[in-house]
Amino acid sequence: MNVTVIGAGYVGLVQSAGLAHLGHSVRVGESDLGRLQQLSAGKMPIYEPGLEELFARAIEHGLITLHSDNHEAVSGADVIFLALPTPPDGNGRADLSILESAVRDLVPALAPSSIVVVKSTVPVGTNALLRSILDGAGCSASVVSNPEFLSEGSAVDDFLKAERIVIGAEFPADAEVLRRLYDGLEAQVVVTDPVSAELTKYAANAYLATRLTFFNAISNLAEEVGADVTHVLHAVGLDRRIGGHFMRPGPGYGGSCFPKDTSALVTIASDNGYAFPMLESVISTNDMQRSRIVERIVRELDGDLSAARIAMWGISFKAGTDDVRASPALAIADELAALGATVVAWDPEARTDEYPSAAGPLEIVEGADLLLIATEWPEFLRVDLAEVAKRMAGETVFDARNLLDPELVSEAGLRYRCLGRRNA
Ligand SMILES: NC(=O)c1ccc[n+]([C@@H]2O[C@H](COP(=O)([O-])OP(=O)(O)OC[C@H]3O[C@@H](n4cnc5c(N)ncnc54)[C@H](O)[C@@H]3O)[C@@H](O)[C@H]2O)c1
Repeated sequence: MNVTVIGAGYVGLVQSAGLAHLGHSVRVGESDLGRLQQLSAGKMPIYEPGLEELFARAIEHGLITLHSDNHEAVSGADVIFLALPTPPDGNGRADLSILESAVRDLVPALAPSSIVVVKSTVPVGTNALLRSILDGAGCSASVVSNPEFLSEGSAVDDFLKAERIVIGAEFPADAEVLRRLYDGLEAQVVVTDPVSAELTKYAANAYLATRLTFFNAISNLAEEVGADVTHVLHAVGLDRRIGGHFMRPGPGYGGSCFPKDTSALVTIASDNGYAFPMLESVISTNDMQRSRIVERIVRELDGDLSAARIAMWGISFKAGTDDVRASPALAIADELAALGATVVAWDPEARTDEYPSAAGPLEIVEGADLLLIATEWPEFLRVDLAEVAKRMAGETVFDARNLLDPELVSEAGLRYRCLGRRNA
């Protein structure tokens, strides 16, 4: 099929490369010229394992072309995916202005038989809104919801080995086109109405955020009562109804999706007359998690950060990605800096202009009073801890991801602090 993907970000790039891998011809429309130039030069503007290779192969086989003009990008397309940003608007709602104006702009270029597919995460009712924009402009193209469930860091696998594909369509014929588009994937396909598809995406993200927050709260309680959260979570996870996944203690959820999607779901609920205090509490509990970590670090440094140098391993919001949007690492760094600490940070992939960096994980700890592990990159497990101890001025390693082996840290002569254990 001839497919267009508008927006070459985390979602759009994976979608384009994935569909090309399935044999479709994909035109990518992107407004950021710098990004297009990078892509044209064979450089992937984001770090996502396996994506650069998949994308390069598609370009080589002529299955992906790049366009700065969206009209040119949609020309001849049977299906047009919108993978555009839907950032929070300041009141917790999803800001649809980019999506809406892109659709308005596309109208003259759409064929009557085109199917416009919303990949962006959008509030319930957005498909209907876009439908009314098209109707108002006399355009008969269809609108279909096909929410994206990829997880950054494993996005290529999430496409190629997708667990489910959700298609929210008004007309069965449109759903069938989408189903055929994904032929070759073994995912379960769920065909439903657009509203249910829109809600599915928020329900999935809100559940994951809630689960993570719940186990962070259990980890905090374990600290208070003197339990070992590692044992607690292992035992809890052995219950098949619960499972052992997605329960690792940490600094709270971040990234470009969970924070904005949980807030958006609270507003979707209240806009529809339903109070959702449980989710509101998840959001505030998640915010408190960072402050709790900061308070513990302040105590480790005897209550005064004014002369403290804190080295941070990890900047991205989680391992496997260079995405720093709403990163808990940066939120914690900001709080520490506001209290007077000098923060320096190193990450295998992510970069920030906010905090000075160094050549590597050893160089960054030079002269540090405390080492904070803020992102769970496996690379940190291979760093020579004896060398870390030699280079640091202080001796505390605060592992906000429970990543390192406590014994190995202690053997290196360092003091290990982590989450969910009373004496550590
Ligand atoms: N990142 C994720 O993990 C993820 C997962 C699932 C769903 N989503 C959702 O998918 C959507 C996109 O997310 P993302 O992370 O890929 O965003 P992103 O910011 O990485 O990418 C969006 C891209 O769209 C481009 N763009 C903006 N306006 C444009 C226009 N008018 N024409 C062409 N290109 C334009 C931007 O330059 C950017 O490259 C959001 O709604 C997000 O919530 C994201």
